[in-house]
Amino acid sequence: MTARIPVVAGNWKMYKTPSEGAAFVSALASRIGIPVGVEVLVAPPFTGLAAAVTAAEGSSVEVAAQNIFWEEQGAFTGEIAPGMLADLGVGWAIIGHSERRQLFGETDQAVARKVRATIDHGLRAILCVGESEQERDADLTEERLTSQVAKGLGELSAGGCSELVVAYEPVWAIGTGRTATPQMAQEACALIRRRLAEIVGAEEAEYVRILYGGSVKPDNFAELMAQPDIDGGLVGGASLDVESFARLVEIAVA
Ligand code: PGA
Repeated sequence: MTARIPVVAGNWKMYKTPSEGAAFVSALASRIGIPVGVEVLVAPPFTGLAAAVTAAEGSSVEVAAQNIFWEEQGAFTGEIAPGMLADLGVGWAIIGHSERRQLFGETDQAVARKVRATIDHGLRAILCVGESEQERDADLTEERLTSQVAKGLGELSAGGCSELVVAYEPVWAIGTGRTATPQMAQEACALIRRRLAEIVGAEEAEYVRILYGGSVKPDNFAELMAQPDIDGGLVGGASLDVESFARLVEIAVA
């Protein structure tokens, strides 16, 4: 099996001012040191990106945006282009989080454009997919994940997959305290990898990191990480506290 370096990514959502975020990054960086065999990233709100990048200099912490727009520049009031983020030193963008899809009307087509634009500008993309509770209850999980993966990669050029990470986040597990069981999460992540293999080939699909997200905490993460197709976590609530986030990083390298 290919060794995939785990990723522990903190999605801060709309929490933390720039100074709170910078203080967090400094505290996290000294708490975890330079851990070997894991990539650690935090995704502050746009206003906190510059301060987080500065605070992360020389440390093992990388900085991600929570969203991007696909155009390079233009009359798009309120939007941020990937090149602007790259210029700040931001290395990653989370794309298609379920909150963006549900609350801000992001379509699969918009997600596909964002994935392509992110990767075209030299950033790495974390494509989020996941079924709703109704879809799971109606046995539509496989269909939903298959369609989100295929559409999310729909605009990607050949080879772009090497800069792609996929996050499986069942919508019903986000912020609810209800985690998917490790078996459920593994099944979904294995399905995602099979779909990736159909699209980009089995060899490339073996290298794509697939994260689980949805109420990840220090006390459930080890079991999730033990699953063969889970290569890390996309973490909301538990990423807002230095100690719990640092514990997740330790678990990922264990
Ligand atoms: P949660 O959020 O860890 O608070 O459930 C995860 C996410 O939305 O990425």
